[in-house]
Amino acid sequence: MPAPNPPVPDALPRHVAIIMDGNGRWAESRGLERSAGHRQGLETTRRAVRFYATRGIDTLSLFAFSSENWGRPSSEVEALFDLFVSAIEAELPELRERGVTLRFVGERAGFPGELRQRMQDAEDLTRDNGGMCLVIALGYGGRWDILQAARRWAEAGMPGDGDGEAVFGSFLATSGLPDVDLLIRTGGEQRISNFLLWQAAYAELLFLETYWPDVGDRELEHSLAWYGRRQRRFGRVRGPSEGAVAGVESSRA
Ligand code: IPE
Ligand code: IPE
Ligand code: MG
Repeated sequence: MPAPNPPVPDALPRHVAIIMDGNGRWAESRGLERSAGHRQGLETTRRAVRFYATRGIDTLSLFAFSSENWGRPSSEVEALFDLFVSAIEAELPELRERGVTLRFVGERAGFPGELRQRMQDAEDLTRDNGGMCLVIALGYGGRWDILQAARRWAEAGMPGDGDGEAVFGSFLATSGLPDVDLLIRTGGEQRISNFLLWQAAYAELLFLETYWPDVGDRELEHSLAWYGRRQRRFGRVRGPSEGAVAGVESSRA
């Protein structure tokens, strides 16, 4: 049997996506309200943004509120919206300093007006930044995204004879961004929960037991080291002579 390709320690994912799960259980295990878990989770979010931006990651996508999360008690949903409003205000100066471009993806209908305004302002203020693209998925569902793309694609006359997948992809909410290379889920569950279904078609999946508020530099470092040891094949056969190793290609060529 041929020896596997050696790992390349510095092979970096271009696009990291995170399902930040476990806030509620983190709080409940301490006898706290679930909203305390969301507040503590925000601390981890800040640390993760700094970490991946410093490491030169091109795109970081964070799942903050799913289409299905509308099914939670209204008190929790309202507490989350309040937290998003204050977080955008509090974090914007540092994000601008770091040159981060903010982009929100998801269905905004039903969001409080103040939140929608903050989202729009943050996007406008960071649009021309040249650093990491930070995608916040709010009111997002992978099926919603594919459906809204299909509708707009049909309205445009179903373009894309030669490269149909790329053209269709340009109608998705993540238009212009690379496919997800590394998808991380914290909190112990091993499911996608309707996150970036199309975009993560060939992502490497890393499931961590740690609740999101407990994630620290150790887990973040581990995510990149773990990714660097993956051998991505995209359906092809890879032998040592071909020299293809994890992370060298981050989308299907
Ligand atoms: C993820 O944490 C954050 C959101 C969905 C907003 P959860 O709130 O799902 O936490 P658990 O899974 O109940 O512990
Ligand atoms: C996924 O977590 C959504 C976010 C992290 C925003 P959930 O806690 O909502 O997912 P399920 O219900 O366990 O699938
Ligand atoms: Mg959860």
